Order: sequence, then C-alpha cells, then structure tokens
Amino acid sequence: MTQAEVIDGKAVATSVRDEIQKRTGALFDSTGAKPGLAVVLVGEDPASQVYVRNKEKTASECGFHSVKHDLPADTPEADVLTLVQQLNEDPAIHGILVQLPLPSHIDESKVLRLIKPEKDVDGFHPINVGLLTTGERDRAMVPCTPAGCLVLIKRALKGALSGKTAVVIGRSNIVGKPMASLLLQESCTVTIAHSRTRDLPSVVRGADIVIAAVGRPEMVRGDWIKPGATVIDVGINRIPAPERGEGKTRLVGDVAYEEAAKVAGAITPVPGGVGPMTIAMLMANTLTAARRQLH
Ligand code: GUN
Repeated sequence: MTQAEVIDGKAVATSVRDEIQKRTGALFDSTGAKPGLAVVLVGEDPASQVYVRNKEKTASECGFHSVKHDLPADTPEADVLTLVQQLNEDPAIHGILVQLPLPSHIDESKVLRLIKPEKDVDGFHPINVGLLTTGERDRAMVPCTPAGCLVLIKRALKGALSGKTAVVIGRSNIVGKPMASLLLQESCTVTIAHSRTRDLPSVVRGADIVIAAVGRPEMVRGDWIKPGATVIDVGINRIPAPERGEGKTRLVGDVAYEEAAKVAGAITPVPGGVGPMTIAMLMANTLTAARRQLH
C-alpha cells in the first residue's frame, strides 16, 4: 500500500512568512513605512477570537504595523461603518479585515462593500471578486484561503495544473467560488459540487484535484478519491474524542484523512495544512496592498 505525500502547510507558510519579512524590511528601507493591517472583531465568538489573535501575532512577526479593534456584540451597524470609513482614510493602514461572521443585526455585505477595494485584504469586495473572475489577478486582492490552497496545489503538482480535472466541494464566497476561479485560470477543468450535487462520490472520483470546503467532519471518504489525486482539506471541525478522555475533543477536516491518505498522491493534514497558509496569504495580501499604495 502506498501512502500519500503529506503536504506540510506549516512549513510552506513559514517560508512564505520569512520572505514577507524580508520584503517588508526592503519596503521600509525605500519608503520609511511599514505595511499596516487593521483587524475588526465584533462580538465574542471564541473561534473568531483565536483567528484574530493569530492574525495579529503573525502581523507583528512579519514587521507590520498591526491594530485590532475589538467591539462588543451589540455595537450598532452605523458604528462599524464609521470605523471602516476611518480606516479607509487612515494612511498608516493598508489592509482592513473585518472578521466574519458579524452579529446578525449588521449587514455583512454593506460593511464589506464600504472597505476600499485596494485595502480589502480579504478579497471579498465585489470589485475584487470581479477582477478575479475576469482574470485580472494582478490588480485584484485574492481571498486568502483559496490563494493558500493554490500555492499548496502548485507545489504538490510541480506546477502541472493545466488540463487537470478539479472538484471543489463547497460554493461559499470565501472559499469555493474563488477557488474555482483560480483553478479555471490555471486551465483546470473545474466542477463546483455542493449539498445538492447528485452522487457526489462519483463526481469526486473523476478528479485529479479535490478541494473539500464544506465544514462537515470527515465527509469525504477514502473510496471517493481517485488513486494519486491531490487532496486539499479546508475543513476545521472540532469533534468529540472520548478515546482521549472524558470531554476531550480533536480537530478533523472534511476528509477522512487516514482512509484518503492510502489512495491520494498528496494530501494536506488538519491541523497543519491549509490553516497556516491562510494567515500567510493574508500577510502577503497586506504587503501587496501596502506596496501598491506606497509606490
Ligand atoms: N471568517 C472565516 N474565514 C474568514 C476569512 O477568511 N476572513 C474573514 N474576514 N473572516 C473569516
């Protein structure tokens, strides 16, 4: 039985961050400015708090100017919009990230549309979505998770993506749709599958590249995977782990890892696969935003 190559997202993310740190130093030498990232968190969602803390920590490690705005869950929508407007006008801030989900009384799309497209390091503004789908990647901000997945896929396949079949499971604006656009631009034949897809296992069996982004623990089984396929697991699901003791939990992806690793050519682990790449790509986007705004 062969065993898939494990795609070490943590190691790739470290090398991306090292490169960003160097380029940040060079930018400072030529302009006297540091890339500035503002992260806005509304409410106390524990998962969001962990993500935001990681983003802040990594930004500081990269040598960025980093500010965090922690707002209570009952903050009026108007106050969030005012803050975004202030950050839009702040010359020390080159990237603005509003952590999602927002509390239900705040119109997410209204907030995201207010962020200046050139400061939209999440790539969620309709202008950036449009630039990505029309193939103007060089002018767009590309959403961080799919951008990170693409880096890992390119490494695993040594750049040979053209003509490959890819199945993206999940049609979210954050991952599924932009992932499909990126793979299409790499000349893959792309299928977007979702909860209404008929006979998902056979759709997945046809794919050279599988991206699982559905948020359902271990849904993709080993016998769905085409032998030798590249499997990218975007899921981060916490499930009970009674074998580790009472009340204990563990993290699993959307792919049944042990099964899939026996069939795939290469696979990302959870944790240590896509997760670290998302944050690294956020730093890359912030540096890109700063360079575009400072030059
Ligand atoms: N919530 C979950 N993923 C993301 C992300 O990539 N960006 C933001 N802003 N919020 C998120």
